[in-house]
Amino acid sequence: MQPSVVNDNRLNVPILSVDNLTVIRSGNIVLKDINLKVCKGEFIGLVGPNGSGKSTLLLSILGVLRAQKGSVEIYGQPPFSRSTIGRIGWVSQAASNLPRDVRITVRELVRLGTLNGKNMFSWSDKGRVKRVNEAIKMVGLEDVENVDVSRLSGGQRQRAVIARALATEAEFILLDEPLVGMDREARNSLLKLLDQLCHDSDKTILMVSHDLTAIRQTAHRMIFLEEMIRYDGPTENFPDLESLAGLRGIRPVHGEDQSYKHTHLVEGE
Ligand SMILES: Nc1ncnc2c1ncn2[C@@H]1O[C@H](COP(=O)(O)OP(=O)(O)OP(=O)(O)O)[C@@H](O)[C@H]1O
Ligand SMILES: [Mg+2]
Repeated sequence: MQPSVVNDNRLNVPILSVDNLTVIRSGNIVLKDINLKVCKGEFIGLVGPNGSGKSTLLLSILGVLRAQKGSVEIYGQPPFSRSTIGRIGWVSQAASNLPRDVRITVRELVRLGTLNGKNMFSWSDKGRVKRVNEAIKMVGLEDVENVDVSRLSGGQRQRAVIARALATEAEFILLDEPLVGMDREARNSLLKLLDQLCHDSDKTILMVSHDLTAIRQTAHRMIFLEEMIRYDGPTENFPDLESLAGLRGIRPVHGEDQSYKHTHLVEGE
């Protein structure tokens, strides 16, 4: 799969603007002077070593973490503004690791994504049922929609939490390592789905991954983060692992030199 080029004028519609963002956690600078613009229809891969601030950046964009300096605007407004409600979806890191004792079916989980202040008490809302059906279909879980989430495989659970995000009808979807625990087939079909969402359903995607090979196949823009943004540009110009190694001591985990096992940007199969 090659990253497909988004060549329409959606890319001129700004969605996110991060300006000079600095975030401190537990007294340490985690993000420093981050500047980032995202436009409608983009599929961006966000990579970087463990602890480099990827999840922190997503949480700052969502408005969950406060910045010490700088600002975040989504659709021209600060996060949590009225106009951004329902327009941003988030699949958190390890979101699919639901506790085993939580008994909930795929359909119920996805239906949670449609909850809002207006429809809370009307389970039969037709629009809502349609959105749930569509989201389950998009991720290909129709066959197991009434199965308990705890009985699914890791890849299926991941799809279920993505369906929940899709059911919100969010336009801008942030995914934090959604490929973890997926086999090659599940991973490829998820990447294909995300690519389709971008191209056919006008979604904008910012996705964190440690699977460099997989993300490079799909994202058309890559960001390499390590406290600061070290690379932000087209995927085809993204430095290869050798150059990254020069930058940061990074090697593929499956590479010949096992002494680099501690590194975190991995080459997929
Ligand atoms: N709740 C927290 N309180 C204080 N510091 C935190 C907290 N969560 C993360 N940090 C620190 O912030 C830094 C960035 O963490 P973050 O989770 O954003 O990294 P990451 O790039 O997402 O890493 P990973 O690839 O392991 O998910 C790390 O040094 C981490 O120790
Ligand atoms: Mg993280």
